[in-house]
Amino acid sequence: MSIDPREYSIQMKLKDISTFIPVMSYKGGVGKTTISTLLSLCLADVGYSVGLLDLDFTNPCVHRMLGIDVKKLMPKEEKGILPVEIENVGVMSIAFFTKDNPTPLRGAELNDVFKELLSITAWGKLDFLILDMPPGLSDVSLDVLKYFKRDLYPLIVSSSSRLAIVPTINLFKLMKELKLSPIGVVINGGIGTMSVYREVTETYLREGLEVIGSIEKDEKLEEVIGSPMELRRTLAYASIKKVCFRALSTTKKVAS
Ligand SMILES: Nc1ncnc2c1ncn2[C@@H]1O[C@H](COP(=O)(O)OP(=O)(O)O)[C@@H](O)[C@H]1O
Ligand SMILES: [Mg+2]
Repeated sequence: MSIDPREYSIQMKLKDISTFIPVMSYKGGVGKTTISTLLSLCLADVGYSVGLLDLDFTNPCVHRMLGIDVKKLMPKEEKGILPVEIENVGVMSIAFFTKDNPTPLRGAELNDVFKELLSITAWGKLDFLILDMPPGLSDVSLDVLKYFKRDLYPLIVSSSSRLAIVPTINLFKLMKELKLSPIGVVINGGIGTMSVYREVTETYLREGLEVIGSIEKDEKLEEVIGSPMELRRTLAYASIKKVCFRALSTTKKVAS
């Protein structure tokens, strides 16, 4: 049994959250933050209560995606720290406290920040908490799998590169070992040729990992980072709607 009182506090703070969706990938730069943000906006747009937690402690980006100025804004305190509300999404990030300064962290320090952030954040009642994860299966990812034991439905993000195949399938295998049911994989960015894309998706399907959506390379995306209104007008947002409804059917919130 743990003697860390924060563990009790974490369970209390998470108890009214119905579903957790960690957005994971084997490496960085494949679109986890983009997809976490768009998925959160989409779920909020169809009327669900949504929180978005940035767990990439050494490179938090969610606030930049949504145009939150962490130097000006501070989450309020009320029986815990309240997430910053933007476009009907409650956002929590270490960046609110570090003010975008560098945060080199390792091993036990990462675990400490994780526990601290989760034990202070008062999410209240939520249909979904989307977790923007660091790449791979590092300390924080393993913590998530430890603390979010119930109602956990990971969403895997992959590029359409041949290099993505083996590590993505390994990530999927690990999830199965942990008895987790991922919602599926989203292929993001559209690099390579159509035939390579087909090879990647067919390999995933053969391994039992369903491709539930593809997001094409969208040049406009970069220009509208920081503007949730404009983000909603991108091709990427249109493509995420399918993923959003799939997430809803897998987590049994609506019929498929
Ligand atoms: N479908 C896409 N089309 C164009 N640019 C994209 C797309 N998805 C992500 N990006 C860009 O790629 C970069 C990395 O994406 P990000 O979401 O930060 O990845 P990760 O969180 O996995 O490191 C960002 O600059 C983002 O704007
Ligand atoms: Mg990221």
